[in-house]
Amino acid sequence: MADLKGVVLAGGLGKRLRPLTKITNKHLLPVFNQPMVYYPVQTLVEAGIADILIVTGGNHAGEFLRLLGNGQEFGLKDINYTYQEGEGGIAEALGLAEHFADGQRIVVILGDNIIEKSIKQDIDKFRKQPQGARILIKEVEDPQRFGVVELKGNKIIAIEEKPKKPKSNYAVTGIYMYDAEVFNIIKTLKPSARNELEITDVNNAYLKRNQLYYNKLDGWWTDAGSFDSLLRANNLAAEKFRREQR
Ligand code: G1P
Repeated sequence: MADLKGVVLAGGLGKRLRPLTKITNKHLLPVFNQPMVYYPVQTLVEAGIADILIVTGGNHAGEFLRLLGNGQEFGLKDINYTYQEGEGGIAEALGLAEHFADGQRIVVILGDNIIEKSIKQDIDKFRKQPQGARILIKEVEDPQRFGVVELKGNKIIAIEEKPKKPKSNYAVTGIYMYDAEVFNIIKTLKPSARNELEITDVNNAYLKRNQLYYNKLDGWWTDAGSFDSLLRANNLAAEKFRREQR
């Protein structure tokens, strides 16, 4: 049944949020009424993905198991977990999902990415494409903080990671869809200036092969990895929760 598998990347040291992350993992911090990691898990489950791997790391990995268990709260039968040693970056963390993916296509979401609406439609488009990758982009006011696309008409011609002079206002959100080639691509990557394997390099590799598709994400999107974006995430999540309660 499971034609697509889901991967939530929830490792890293969350340095930008110290001292909040001194004694816990960023993705366990509260975002309004739920721990941060609940949101990306819900995004996947809501889109119909029930086969999920959580990649975590650092000193608090055990807490994820205590918190999420077998995912009963999300209606899941079980959850898979794996552990990233050290701080090798998002693409390295994703590389750990190769065994879990087992040749199937995957939907990847960063553990601090929170969205308003469903990505079901985008995932359906990914299902229908013959091969390659699909990313979701979103117009933002502060593109320097993200991976940023350069567009020519409707075509992405390049992606730059945290550019000083962004070529557009469209950030690459932390939701990525890949075919099984992603694991071969990751093996060819070289560490960036911040000594990490960059997810932007993975996306650029697909772009080079002419196999990078995209959609503009519907509804609001935020990360939660800085004090300001964490506050924004809290406010947006609260607003959404209240709206849904009405
Ligand atoms: C990461 C990616 C970046 C992307 C962002 C989305 O950045 O490297 O390309 O736009 O997530 O949240 P990080 O937050 O790890 O610096």
